[in-house]
Amino acid sequence: MTKMTARGFANPYNAQGPTNPKYYANREELLSTFIHNVIAVSESEGITRPINISVMGSWGMGKTSTLLKFRDMIKSSSGNAQIFSAYVSLSPASCTDSETFFVYLMESVFRQYESTVALPQKVLDFIREELNVFEKWRIAKISMNPEIERRERLPLRAVNFNETMLRFWEKLQCGGVKLAVIMLDDIHYALLGQGNARLLYDLRTAMQTLSAADTQYMFIITGPVDLYPVIRDKAEPFTRLFERFDLKPFDIEGTRQLIERPLFTECIRLEIDEAVVYRIYQITGGHPYFLTLAMRDILDMKREGRLTLARFERLRPELIRHFARIKFRDDLGRASNTERKLLFQMAVFSSAVAPSELDGSGTVRLLDRLVKKELVVKVARGKYRLYNPLFREYLKNARLTE
Ligand SMILES: Nc1ncnc2c1ncn2[C@@H]1O[C@H](COP(=O)(O)OP(=O)(O)O)[C@@H](O)[C@H]1O
Ligand SMILES: [Mg+2]
Repeated sequence: MTKMTARGFANPYNAQGPTNPKYYANREELLSTFIHNVIAVSESEGITRPINISVMGSWGMGKTSTLLKFRDMIKSSSGNAQIFSAYVSLSPASCTDSETFFVYLMESVFRQYESTVALPQKVLDFIREELNVFEKWRIAKISMNPEIERRERLPLRAVNFNETMLRFWEKLQCGGVKLAVIMLDDIHYALLGQGNARLLYDLRTAMQTLSAADTQYMFIITGPVDLYPVIRDKAEPFTRLFERFDLKPFDIEGTRQLIERPLFTECIRLEIDEAVVYRIYQITGGHPYFLTLAMRDILDMKREGRLTLARFERLRPELIRHFARIKFRDDLGRASNTERKLLFQMAVFSSAVAPSELDGSGTVRLLDRLVKKELVVKVARGKYRLYNPLFREYLKNARLTE
């Protein structure tokens, strides 16, 4: 019997948020680079230094899922290593200026942390004191009252990231912690605020100072693939501090894993023919978000037994309609009229196109705008394609009904 829950049928595919680490598929090289370094650092008494990792990928490619997987691996695959880790989710509001950013960063580290060992009282006291300082800083900032700022000698001390993290490391080390992993999800928000380059520059300097002081912090950042050219102009050496991994769409093997792992883990008796796996791979382009969405719908429509290609083809129109409802309509809504015309033109081509193959003027500029909106992908010098084959299919149909 397939597993039932109180509210009916169990469906482990969740497209609305990051994946549960136990279903995480693919990306072996990235995972092993991470865990090998984690183990080496924890076991070498400080000789092996932590690497910093940047995980780059467009929307829905699995950046947040990867950070949650890292966090899970620290607990489940690092032996008995003593590791502190913190996950920090950035937003535009947390990155308005350097001071706000660092206070938010430290507050998140001191609140949203996990540790594989019980932290000694000294560390807990330190955390409590620092959180107090931030609280006062916040009050001072909101009230905008220079009197309070002067009286409390704030915010100077509150925002000294280097100094705070240095002292924090000393406390952690006394408590037996060998490594502290700090994960910053969606670092590109740091480029939105005023003086944004400055903010990354400050972070870079802080990371270097902390490393030079022999602390064992590992920084992990995520962001879109085109983040680097943006940063390079502004804080070039920032990029050199990280080992970079690009999250690409899954290949057929990764696709199979994403499809099968949740079924296997939850003992769901749905057998999916190889031809269907391949077909799903083709129509989603191996995009993890669309794969997850497709599987969620498929499992809702067929809960057990064998899924043949013929049966799948009958479910397919419903899948496309669903994708349209929750994603493609929004996508199209983000394009201007001229951009839209270009998208419809591109949908006619089954492979990548050069701007010269498309009608209209200013095509290159429009295409670059569509790349920024993540609706079009630049595949090679001068060649572009729609970001997903399903989006193409949707555009072909939408065009007919316009
Ligand atoms: N490696 C993976 N294994 C299984 N599912 C994944 C994987 N990567 C991403 N997904 C799925 O894709 C969707 C988007 O993932 P998410 O981590 O939120 O992406 P991002 O943070 O890059 O926007 C989610 O539904 C998630 O379940
Ligand atoms: Mg994310």
